[in-house]
Amino acid sequence: MDVFEAIDKRYSCRTYEDRAIEPEKLDRVLDAARLAPSARNFQDWRFIVVQDAATRAKLIPAANDQAFVGSAPAVIVACSNSDYVMRCGQAIGPIDIAIALEHIALQATAEGLATCWIGSFFPDKVRAILGIPEDIQIIELMPIGYPAGGAPAKKREPLTKIVSYDKWEFDSI
Ligand SMILES: Cc1cc2nc3c(=O)[nH]c(=O)nc-3n(C[C@H](O)[C@H](O)[C@H](O)COP(=O)(O)O)c2cc1C
Repeated sequence: MDVFEAIDKRYSCRTYEDRAIEPEKLDRVLDAARLAPSARNFQDWRFIVVQDAATRAKLIPAANDQAFVGSAPAVIVACSNSDYVMRCGQAIGPIDIAIALEHIALQATAEGLATCWIGSFFPDKVRAILGIPEDIQIIELMPIGYPAGGAPAKKREPLTKIVSYDKWEFDSI
């Protein structure tokens, strides 16, 4: 599968088969995160892979009662320890994690797996469940597994609405 095909096929999967992910597939998916770029190559990320069924069940209320989060065979919890802010004023933690997680999502797609970004969660609940230290930011969760059912059609704006050349030519965002 080439990169564009993986980008096109990736979707937010909210129904998973009750089927474990082969360890070699999971390793390749996690390696895709390891190989991601990061600001100053800080690699300011840590990923907790939650596979234990009882722990996944506890993550459901922590994920704002999104039951599908616990039904995936694994949930990746992406953490950062960086409060470094770039010259442009943006914090690197969420940016670096976002890149790494999208590497995960795309490699998962190439492996026949599916994922969903989860931003609707309570960090303090996740922290307590997984024993994550107070000085670590919990940026995002990502369930991963074999999809049950197909992908819905993508809803996206056309390029003409989101791209201009050489200068700002938008009315607004
Ligand atoms: C940062 C971020 C947080 C998100 N949080 C959630 C979430 O908590 N629950 C959920 O069901 N989907 C979540 N999504 C998925 C988006 O709703 C989804 O990406 C968007 O509707 C586009 O659909 P697609 O991913 O299938 O292309 C999140 C996506 C992103 C990028």
